[in-house]
Amino acid sequence: MAPQRTALVTGATSGIGLEVARELVNRGYRVIGSGRNPERLADDERLPGVEYVALDLADRDSIHACTTAIGDVDIVVHNAGESQSGPVEELPDEAVDRLFQTNVFGPVQLTQRLLPHMRGQGYGRVVTVGSMLASFPLAHRGSYCAAKAALKGFALSARQELSPFGVWVSHVEPGSIATGIGTRRTHYIAEGSPYQADYDTMITHLDANEQSGISPATVAKTIVKAIEADPPREFYAVGSNAPLVFALRRLVPRSVVTSLVARRHGLKR
Ligand SMILES: NC(=O)c1ccc[n+]([C@@H]2O[C@H](COP(=O)([O-])OP(=O)(O)OC[C@H]3O[C@@H](n4cnc5c(N)ncnc54)[C@H](OP(=O)(O)O)[C@@H]3O)[C@@H](O)[C@H]2O)c1
Repeated sequence: MAPQRTALVTGATSGIGLEVARELVNRGYRVIGSGRNPERLADDERLPGVEYVALDLADRDSIHACTTAIGDVDIVVHNAGESQSGPVEELPDEAVDRLFQTNVFGPVQLTQRLLPHMRGQGYGRVVTVGSMLASFPLAHRGSYCAAKAALKGFALSARQELSPFGVWVSHVEPGSIATGIGTRRTHYIAEGSPYQADYDTMITHLDANEQSGISPATVAKTIVKAIEADPPREFYAVGSNAPLVFALRRLVPRSVVTSLVARRHGLKR
């Protein structure tokens, strides 16, 4: 009989992470799910079968405490993230620093701590959750697009390094997914900003696209595929008609794709 694998799912308290945790529990994995304040979860917000652990990726001490508390894991799904918006000119330094610590450096630091066990036993799965906005950048999402592109670069490079040891890294890019993330986005725009009208248009369309997006359970199935395939693919995209959109990107000039992405968000470029 195959050994029971232990999976850490970051950001398992809502949205995509919650559905990944649910799917993995249903499939017989031991699941550790993280949130910044899991002790505040009400009983009906806790998934049966999930062991909750505190993890704030914006805080390096919290990453250290989390890995010390959980010990060895065989699988990590780097799902937790901040969705940040704001015109490049107006993003405060501390907001960009926090975003990169949460969405890039945190997953890198967590991976570094979890790798010795995976490499040593000749089995491991690391799944990073990016965003199609890294492949199709959008105005006023500069910090977020950059962070997700950085995460993708990390994942695809680490994969080449680790696959000879049986540790497979895959990167998943979701499109618009109906998780309610729009209500949790961080916004940075100055009072009287010259970007205000464009910004409001973009956010209105972004939130509407998210609300009419596919379900997080569908993304969870793709992430589980990336865990269970042998070997998994390096890249998966899901939602927002991903197969069609990526095919189009290969067929038409980049400027046309840029213009289509802008128009989908109400902007003329
Ligand atoms: N929804 C979409 O349309 C979409 C599209 C593309 C990519 N994505 C990506 O998919 C991932 C999940 O998104 P989602 O839509 O499921 O969002 P969500 O429902 O808002 O969930 C985000 C999760 O991340 C955790 N989290 C937030 N800040 C954290 C921090 N500093 N440290 C540790 N955990 C933190 C939250 O937990 P606590 O609040 O309990 O700490 C929560 O469990 C994110 O990486 C997001 O960028 C989403």
